[in-house]
Amino acid sequence: MTTHITGATNKKFDADPARPRFHYLPPSNWMNDPNGLIQWNGAYHLFYQYNPDGAFHANMHWGHAVSRDLVHWEQLPIALAPTPGSVDEDGIFSGCAVNNDGQPVIIYTGVRGERFEHQVQCVAFGSDDLLKWEKYANNPVVGEVPPEANQTADFRDPFVWRDGEHWYMLVGSGIKDVGGTAFLYRSDDLLSWDYLNPLLVGDRTKNGLIWECPNFFPLGDKWVLIVSMHDGKDTVRVQYFVGTYENHRFTPEVEGLLDHAYLYAPLTMQDDSGRRILWGWLREGRSKQAHTNAGWAGAQSIPRELSLDEHSRLIMRPVPEIETIRGAHHQYDNLNLDTTSEAEMPISAHGLALDIALDATLQDEGELMLSVACSPDNSQRTDIQFSALTGELSVNRAYSSLSEDDERHSHTAPHELDAGENLHLRIILDGSLLEIIANGRTSITSRIYPTRFEDDGIRLQGTGALVNRLDIYEMPSIWR
Ligand code: FRU
Repeated sequence: MTTHITGATNKKFDADPARPRFHYLPPSNWMNDPNGLIQWNGAYHLFYQYNPDGAFHANMHWGHAVSRDLVHWEQLPIALAPTPGSVDEDGIFSGCAVNNDGQPVIIYTGVRGERFEHQVQCVAFGSDDLLKWEKYANNPVVGEVPPEANQTADFRDPFVWRDGEHWYMLVGSGIKDVGGTAFLYRSDDLLSWDYLNPLLVGDRTKNGLIWECPNFFPLGDKWVLIVSMHDGKDTVRVQYFVGTYENHRFTPEVEGLLDHAYLYAPLTMQDDSGRRILWGWLREGRSKQAHTNAGWAGAQSIPRELSLDEHSRLIMRPVPEIETIRGAHHQYDNLNLDTTSEAEMPISAHGLALDIALDATLQDEGELMLSVACSPDNSQRTDIQFSALTGELSVNRAYSSLSEDDERHSHTAPHELDAGENLHLRIILDGSLLEIIANGRTSITSRIYPTRFEDDGIRLQGTGALVNRLDIYEMPSIWR
């Protein structure tokens, strides 16, 4: 068994323009869901689904990293590995970490079987530095799917929180022919759990067949449920619900998609300052063969601070800590694209690691297009487009790369501006990662696979649009 993750940067990837420089990822191999997020003695601990054997999904362990500032990370030894002959012999699936009166505790799903058909909830106790983890001798703590009618075999990703005198736990699942669900449990000691009821059952036509990675927490004066929805085949999406919580039942009032592309299986935590912070797994958009050959797969999003707006829509803002490492700054003011024919503004800034903020006022039929990762002749580019007329934000990847092994479908998300509201775009480009958040509430996290460092130009075009301000910051690597 590999017990240590070595090499913070893994220099062998320096020549790979697709590899992120300022997002967290392990030195090599496969990563998926964030797990066990917790602030402990001031430091942020991130665990994650990790395969030590290669850049493909198999043999799930929990990798581990720590950060004092939410920007720079130290790679730590693997925290949890499957135990042969036990209930987790085929994988340590997703879960969470809590502080039980000074004792760090991980609650995770142990899996067994060729198709991981046996899924049970397990506990491990940590040393005070969170480096050594001992599994509870009487695992599993929840071995049976609760006695609801017709649930699927999916029963995973415990999310645990403290409310008053008790611990509560949600476990993701699904009810056949009905929809995804999250089962609610209660405990006094994290070891003996009573089943209460489904917190909510979704509508399979809208909310997926199976719910993975539930999160449930108070935000403002509401409660928020976030679930990762699986259709049982290949389609995955993340949904949020905002509503009220009473008698162990959740009543949604507002729902929306948390991301419109590659962000999946997010996990949230509350930090010592009271902020609710979300990390999401940024999936690959290239073939299994391509990422296996690349030697690395999966990244974590820049952590996002959550809040609600006055319409109870979920608002996401990359944590301000990331702004502290911004490098060279290029500022453009009052770029008037208010012409009848398409106008283009010369933008001299360039790079494949950028943090961009744009504020624009659009006429009723206005359109704006910012392209990134452009080749000098513009044959290669990724177009980020907003149309005030259709009220849509889209990303066109048809010309994103010279490689033939990546997904090229475009992403479109409804994005209506409120009366008198400017368009605000935050765009974080980091090699193959492209995080786009419009007005805090519409998120498209895309993947593009640039093959040449020099194809790093930026173009701005539009009609009926005034760009009040465009800030482009060059971003450094967090690893040196
Ligand atoms: C979500 C997920 C979880 C599971 C884990 C396995 O991406 O499928 O439901 O615990 O990944 O790696």
